[in-house]
Amino acid sequence: MMAPRLPLTPLSVWSLPPIGGHAWSHPLGGFPGVPPPAAMVLPSEAPLTAQAYDFLANLVYEHSRIRLGPDRQSLVAGRLRQRLLALGLETYDDYCILLKSPQGTDEVDALIDLISTNHTHFFREPSHFDLLSQQILPRLAEKSIAGMRPLRFWCAACSSGEEVYSLAIVLAEFSRLRPAVHWQIEASDISQRMLERCQQGIYDADKVSVPQPEWLERYFLRGIGEREGYYRVKNELRRQVTVRYVNLFQDVYPVPRGLDVIFCRNVMIYFDVPSRNTLIERLTDQLAPGGILFVGHSESLIGLHHGLRTIAPSVYMRPE
Ligand SMILES: C[S@@+](CC[C@H](N)C(=O)[O-])C[C@H]1O[C@@H](n2cnc3c(N)ncnc32)[C@H](O)[C@@H]1O
Repeated sequence: MMAPRLPLTPLSVWSLPPIGGHAWSHPLGGFPGVPPPAAMVLPSEAPLTAQAYDFLANLVYEHSRIRLGPDRQSLVAGRLRQRLLALGLETYDDYCILLKSPQGTDEVDALIDLISTNHTHFFREPSHFDLLSQQILPRLAEKSIAGMRPLRFWCAACSSGEEVYSLAIVLAEFSRLRPAVHWQIEASDISQRMLERCQQGIYDADKVSVPQPEWLERYFLRGIGEREGYYRVKNELRRQVTVRYVNLFQDVYPVPRGLDVIFCRNVMIYFDVPSRNTLIERLTDQLAPGGILFVGHSESLIGLHHGLRTIAPSVYMRPE
């Protein structure tokens, strides 16, 4: 699918709430990618010791199954430096002491938030969206109409929402042709910071790239005034999406079972094989018979134990 450069002019506009309001603040201090103000001084250059790194890597693994290899030490140090500053801590050892203390429980979420890789974009791995609209949705539509129920999707590990709204656009387009087909999306991630952005549905205009130029006008508002340079996903798409925190390894998933489609893409690469096996088993359980699981192109299930049928590269079906 090609992603042409999109025109700005025909979009409806929106201007409130202003940038700088609560919704835009970064809970970990500052905006992603924006350096701290010059007046802020980073904590002392105390090194992240091997012992502190092992402690942090184990903690991250225990809570998220994200496996931090030994080559990640300087990345972790870099990502945590700002956090130390925000907490008024001098060294990484102090940070470990905080994490071990009773007050440290909530801090684990902030740690994982900082460590996780959130890269994503609109219509990433576009062949999945083509397959969905051309082959999978027509089949699911019959089921939905016969069962008089909406189609249920789960975007697990959705990061900042570009994947969610790409899916929502494909579904909305399908419903234009088949108005009897209704749908809902559960969107989840382990990162509160990403969930906040997903909920907002506001994106840098340069990063909004959709395969059909008319979809831009149909599904986005163009920011004006303080919002110049941003697009916001329209309410009619956003209200179809429920955004919530889900750790893929938490005991019980707060999403419905009997799902028609799960997107769980580009997250398994961070997990080891036993964790991947556990995850695939649990996701399979969450699908309806005949339901479809999408994983990332680089995440084939080869070598994992599963009872799914391959229907395309990185696309699997739970047998009927
Ligand atoms: C690279 S992004 C992938 C986003 C999107 N699925 C895509 O393919 O573009 C990986 C996401 O997985 C999330 N993640 C990592 N470990 C997780 C876990 N244990 N449970 C839920 N989400 C997790 C991260 O916070 C991050 O947002």
